Amino acid sequence: MNQLSKKLLSKKGYYDAISDLIESSVVLKMDEYIQHGTTSTLDHCIRVSYRSYKIAKLFKMDYKSAARAGLLHDLFLYDWHLEPKRKLFEKHGYTHPKTALMNASNNFNLNSKEKDIILKHMWPLTLRSVPKYKESFLVSMVDKYSSCGETLVPLANKLAEFIF
Ligand SMILES: [Fe+2]
Ligand SMILES: [Fe+2]
Repeated sequence: MNQLSKKLLSKKGYYDAISDLIESSVVLKMDEYIQHGTTSTLDHCIRVSYRSYKIAKLFKMDYKSAARAGLLHDLFLYDWHLEPKRKLFEKHGYTHPKTALMNASNNFNLNSKEKDIILKHMWPLTLRSVPKYKESFLVSMVDKYSSCGETLVPLANKLAEFIF
């Protein structure tokens, strides 16, 4: 877990919303896998969860469900970079929301909104899997924003090393 994640988890209101999840070994196991660039899946999920929590709170949405499902949205627990060649709709991008939901449901009690947030977070890639709640749409957008940053910053750093 990186320093930013530790800092975000030290914020009391946020920590209270996800404390039982972040103390569980199955959630901490996400730290073993890289998600984008140099960011572990756990650090990615904490970032998505915290940003979703803050925005949901600002707009008087269900910030607790957004924070909890944001933390669990990528609980697929494998290294997706090692994926063998598969047909398009069997690829990680399409299937991992279902795997994450199955793992999350097997380990925690989720409400229907949290399930929807996890299952629909790859929309619009998963065309027919349209978010049902505004919190699902929010987490999906925050996930894309965070993923772009995590992917582009290491690339920009590499490029800068190459040029300068
Ligand atoms: Fe995902
Ligand atoms: Fe994600």
